[in-house]
Formats: sequence, structure tokens, C-alpha cells
Amino acid sequence: AIDINKLRDQTGYVTLDSGYKNTGATKSAITFLDGEEGILRYRGYPIEQLAEKSSFLEVAYLLIYGTLPTEAELKDFSGQITKHTLVHEDVRKIFDGFPSAAHPMAILSSLICALTAFYPESVSPDLSKEEIDLNVIRLMAKLPTIAAWTYKNQMGHPLNYPRNDMDYASNFLHMMFSFPTEKYELNPVVVSALNKLLILHADHEQNCSTSTVRLVGSANASLYGSVSAGINALWGPLHGGANQEVVEMLEAIERDGGDTSKFIAKAKDKNDSFRLMGFGHRVYKNFDPRATIIKKAADEVLSALGLQDSPLLKIAKELEQAALTDEYFVQRKLYPNVDFYSGIIYKALGIPTEMFTVMFALGRLPGWIAQWKEMRENKEPIGRPRQIYVGEKERNYVPINERG
Ligand code: ACO
Repeated sequence: AIDINKLRDQTGYVTLDSGYKNTGATKSAITFLDGEEGILRYRGYPIEQLAEKSSFLEVAYLLIYGTLPTEAELKDFSGQITKHTLVHEDVRKIFDGFPSAAHPMAILSSLICALTAFYPESVSPDLSKEEIDLNVIRLMAKLPTIAAWTYKNQMGHPLNYPRNDMDYASNFLHMMFSFPTEKYELNPVVVSALNKLLILHADHEQNCSTSTVRLVGSANASLYGSVSAGINALWGPLHGGANQEVVEMLEAIERDGGDTSKFIAKAKDKNDSFRLMGFGHRVYKNFDPRATIIKKAADEVLSALGLQDSPLLKIAKELEQAALTDEYFVQRKLYPNVDFYSGIIYKALGIPTEMFTVMFALGRLPGWIAQWKEMRENKEPIGRPRQIYVGEKERNYVPINERG
């Protein structure tokens, strides 16, 4: 590897790489991604095996602590998370200050940052291992509660308290869909699909939101503040916001009569800003391995729920088929990404569209935590990119009455 700092000192040159297309910002031992071959592994374990055999909390432990937990370790980890699922009652009051139409991601990022106010010691740059672990547990435990409440708040429903006799995914579904007036029956198909989706989203090395978490954290910002920043990055429609946009696009195509070729043509038209949402990826220039798993899961889940004839699924498959055989998409190596089918599954599970990116955040949380922790443990320096200045040369101040 070239020592870029030495090179700069010797030559005075700065590397310019807009969008960091080929710039490594860190060494990391968490996630391996080979975009050419379509390979994704967490801590060395292929994503296909984890999605098939593991549970979300087990994968979270693996990402955060580096090894698959023993039975006792997993019991302890999930037990501790269960103990911390409640949020301070004053957090509920903050909900009253938001308009009821507020986007759930706006509330989620605000309230995750607000945890810093409830745990002020978390801002210390000198936390012990035990103190960091406690913040990790709190965040893993409380984010689902806050996430479910963003939805309940928007609906004007009573907020459900967590159920500590349920596993992580089931408890989240309970907080989203239970009413005090009736019993909520958990569907095992839904629980297992949610578990799989969360695992598939759990980490993806130095993507935009994760890099944000590391960059903000590199200033010694708290775990809560850093993850809150990551949530905002994730909300962008070119990143995690794409899953909401995919379903809105599929619905728009359906409303328009279902002619997919018209939308493919729009996506190819360079004078039209429309992009086929859920297609393309900065790193995968081959099929996104997560998309392969999710596509299969979409078929299974929709069949199990009796929704196999869903018009959205049909339109999605048609779009995929058309794009895979269209020269424009083939040449640019634009394949469906993780977001293309995940929205369809979320919709089938009864998750409202505005919550899709929140679901992504729920899944990505252990990845953000693991990356923040790794950055801290490696004592990485503060992130501070350089620039190439292209503005005005020095000029003299002109008093306002002399400006023309
Ligand atoms: N539809 C139509 N054309 C596309 C699409 C698309 N979805 N994606 C890329 N292209 C075209 C671009 O117009 C460009 O064409 P050109 O070479 O003729 O100018 C070429 O493909 C390369 O695209 P870039 O934007 O340079 O690729 P980049 O790596 O910067 O962007 C991104 C990747 C943002 C994911 C892009 O493919 C995109 O906007 N996709 C749609 C949004 C989306 O699905 N985002 C989710 C990403 S996955 C995730 O965050 C979990």
C-alpha cells in the first residue's frame, strides 16, 4: 500500500476521490464484501449460512464481539437486552412535541440522540469496557421500543410497552401491532421472515451510514450521538430510504396500468432524473447476495401468507427480468440490490411504507455498534478529509454601498 501521508509531504498533492469510490478509510475485521464475486461474510461466516441458520441476536453478538456466542453467552446477552427494553418515561413526553405526521426516521434519530441526555456519562471519551458494553446493551434494547413507538405515535395508537417474555423480533412485532383491547397472535412465518431481514441488513462494511457513524465517533462522540447521525444518513433515498422508494415506485407503476417498459425507458433517459429504485450498487457489480436470499424469501413469505398473486410482486419480477436483459442495465452492471425485494416483504408483513427505513435501521444497528466499537478500540484518529480548493483567489472586502 502507498503511504499517502508520506506522498503528500513529498509532493504536496492531495488525493481527490469524490464519493470515496476507491479510498479505504479504515482497516476492519468485521465484514468481508467482494462486489465482483457477490460475496458477503460477517466475521468470516457466509451471509447465506447466517440467514438460514442463525437468529438476529446471535448475529448481533457475532458482529459486536467477533465470535459466535456459546449458549450461555447468548442467554446472557439476550437476557441483558431484555432487562433494558424500557425507556425512561420522560422519553414518552418528547413524542408529544412532534407533529403526528412526522416521518418515523426523524423521530428515531432525534430520540436516539436524546439518549445521550438520559445517559450523560456516555459522552466520556474514557469509558471502560464494561461501560461501553452497557451502552451497547441499552441501545440494542431501546431502539426497537423507540422505533415501534414512532409508528404508534403516528397512528395515534396507545404506545405498547415491551414484552420481556418474547424474543427480539417477536417483541418488536408485539410493540408494533398489539392493542390493549385484543390479543395479538404472532405468526411464525412473519417472525422468521423478520429475523432473516434483520440479519441480512446487519452490516455492510463502510457504507454511507456506517462511515458516518465511524466519522462522527472518531471525534469521540457518544455511541448514541454517532448512531443517530448514521440513522440520518440511512434515511437518504440513495441509501436506506430506497426500500420505501421501491414500493412507492411499484405502486406508481401499478396505478399507471402496470406497463414496466415505460418505466424502464424513463430510467434510461438521461434527461429524466428517474432511476429504477432498488437497482444498482456502489460495490456490487454482480448480483447482491442479499437480494438473492430476499427474493427467495419474498416468494416463500408471500405464498405462506396467501399473497403470492400480489400485483407488486408481479411488477417487481417483470422489472427485474426486463432490466436483466436490457443492454443499458447489463452494460452498467445494475442488478437488484437488497432494497428491491425487502419492501415487498415488509409490506406483506403489515409494516407500513414509512416504517421501511426504520426497519433497515433496526437491522443495521449491530453493524453500526460493531464498527463504532472497533474504531474506538483501534484508537483511530479523528476523520478529517482534505479538499481541492476551487474558489476565488484572495480579494479585498468591498463595503456594501459600493457593491454593484
Ligand atoms: N436506474 C437507472 N440508471 C442507473 C441506476 C438506476 N437505479 N443506478 C445507476 N444508474 C446509472 C447511472 O445513471 C450511471 O449511468 P452513466 O454511466 O450513463 O452516467 C451509471 O449507472 C453508474 O451510476 P452511478 O450513479 O455513478 O453509480 P454509484 O455507484 O454512484 O451509485 C447507487 C450507486 C446510488 C446505488 C445508484 O445505483 C442508485 O441511485 N440506485 C437507485 C437507488 C438505490 O436503490 N439505492 C439503494 C442502494 S443499496 C443500499 O443503500 C442498501
